[in-house]
Amino acid sequence: MTICRTIEEMRAQVRDWRQAGLRVGLVPTMGYLHEGHMSLVDLAAQRAERVVLSIYVNPTQFGPGEDLDKYPRDFARDEALCRQRGVQALFYPESRAMYAPSHSTWVVVEGLTETLCGRSRPGHFRGVSTVVTKLFNIVQPDVAVFGRKDAQQVLVIQRLVRDLDQPVEVVVAPIVREADGLAMSSRNTYLSADERRRAVCISQALQDAADGYAGGELDACRLRAGVTARIQAGGGRVDYVECVSRDTLQAVTRVDQPALLAVAAFFGKTRLIDNVYLG
Ligand code: PAF
Repeated sequence: MTICRTIEEMRAQVRDWRQAGLRVGLVPTMGYLHEGHMSLVDLAAQRAERVVLSIYVNPTQFGPGEDLDKYPRDFARDEALCRQRGVQALFYPESRAMYAPSHSTWVVVEGLTETLCGRSRPGHFRGVSTVVTKLFNIVQPDVAVFGRKDAQQVLVIQRLVRDLDQPVEVVVAPIVREADGLAMSSRNTYLSADERRRAVCISQALQDAADGYAGGELDACRLRAGVTARIQAGGGRVDYVECVSRDTLQAVTRVDQPALLAVAAFFGKTRLIDNVYLG
């Protein structure tokens, strides 16, 4: 496995592979890898002969007072996991390599970023869209894999790929869960034992809503209220519970089209997200 610390090294590696006629897959991450990330690597490897995993804690997608400084980092462990899983190149750029001091160009996807996490975290998706565009420009992958836990992020990236004619296929991987149902996330590591035990109510609440929907409950307000009540009973502080169209992310009142039921909730200081598809 090659470790590329600069954009030039990454480009040279990809150039060699391209000359050999090999397809390249990219798994963008912020590190502190878990099985969810590794499932993205597996999907990329099914679609490309060479897999690049990037590790970069992107400062521009964190707001003031968010967890940029304490975001968990363990490069040695991440490197070992990537080697075990057959990643061919790790792109691990230094922060100053990614953003020039006078950086002033941003990618903003309008219409999809004002709701859900975009409302609670202003500027977050501008940072995500910009860094993902940069990663696509640097690695020039044929395929890039993202997890559906970040459902809004996936939609935003699909839109930017379409709108900016990026020659990359975006593959969406299912949510990977712990044995009790909690969606895997690097941020789970912040949870105390008690918060970790209680946080399982998020996935349980979503599953209850999915069961209710399957049983004929189409009223978005009632579905959302059930999820909110269950999370509050579990000791969580709800940031949002929204039922939105899967294409536009606009709120729906009745689930008579494919919808996304999405949640963000705090357990202690840790903000967790999860979602389920309805329909
Ligand atoms: O999902 C993430 O880990 C990040 O938002 C991403 C896509 C790597 C961009 O920094």
